[in-house]
Amino acid sequence: MRWQAEAPSNIALIKYMGKKDFTLNIPCNPSLSYTLDHLRSYVELELSHDSEDRWAPLSEASDFVYDITDAPQAQQRFLKHLHRLKAYFNIKEHFIVRSGNNFPSNCGLASSAASFAALTSCFAKAYTDLKHRPTAPSDTVLSRLSREASGSSCRSFFKPWALWTYKQSKAVQLPYTQLTHQTVVISEKSKSIGSSQAHRRVLTSDLFQGRMTRARRRLQSLITSLQNKDWYQAYIITWHEFWDMHMLFHTAETPFSYLEPGSIDVIKVIEQLWQSQHDGPLMTLDAGPNVHLLYRPDQDEIATKMYHYFNQQHRILMKESKNQ
Ligand code: DP6
Repeated sequence: MRWQAEAPSNIALIKYMGKKDFTLNIPCNPSLSYTLDHLRSYVELELSHDSEDRWAPLSEASDFVYDITDAPQAQQRFLKHLHRLKAYFNIKEHFIVRSGNNFPSNCGLASSAASFAALTSCFAKAYTDLKHRPTAPSDTVLSRLSREASGSSCRSFFKPWALWTYKQSKAVQLPYTQLTHQTVVISEKSKSIGSSQAHRRVLTSDLFQGRMTRARRRLQSLITSLQNKDWYQAYIITWHEFWDMHMLFHTAETPFSYLEPGSIDVIKVIEQLWQSQHDGPLMTLDAGPNVHLLYRPDQDEIATKMYHYFNQQHRILMKESKNQ
């Protein structure tokens, strides 16, 4: 027997950075994200007669060519979550798990969010069949389980906007449900400091004092700005938020950085665009050098212009899509 599932990535505008509980992934502050339907992970589970679970590569013909679990450490993390799910749902069978992304993993494109959400969703299908359940577990339950594997994955169950308040995530109704997303891919190299480590190291920054208050205040202001369709204010809040997180990295006891010259170039171009046009995309960076841009549907012309500009001048890969 075999089960398949896909899940999207998401981009946080108010960031999850710093944990209250490192075992359960309880964040220090609530976060808000936009779901990226075009950046997806795929997981396949197959019942096996082996005496243990194992990971195996996907067929090369798959659309999901970027392997999320080729590194032994990543495979272990993936299998650990499979064991967590088996224990929770009381499933004794063994599985072969295959997985992949349609985008580069481990470079600040939130691959862990998509991959753990996909594994959790796939396991829910297997559980429902194997235990002959009339209905699958709810997204709320799956989101909570997925959070224990990787915090940001709990937001990938809801769209287009997801709000994660400590122990629970949910969809939140806000305007702008059809944003165009572009990722200016500055580097596809693996990060030397993973986000799980970043969550620990930010706690050593002097600037972490007050971070929870700042993030909570920004979350409220961002929700209000989006509700009021105040795009400029949303851009300013998002701008402050990503710099706040990156400054925590730069001021940790042992500082570290994800920014590359190409990231700064793109940030400056978007800043100048806003200055000259009094309009532009929302911009943010995760724990990586790549720059995420979100455009309103009526900004299609500007989105296309920026696509060509970045693609030609900086030879930067971009991916575009609209949420449904
Ligand atoms: C910078 O969810 O990758 O993307 O819970 O340790 O797996 P773990 O961390 P992870 O952290 C993501 C942090 C971020 C910001 C965000 O997505 O909110």
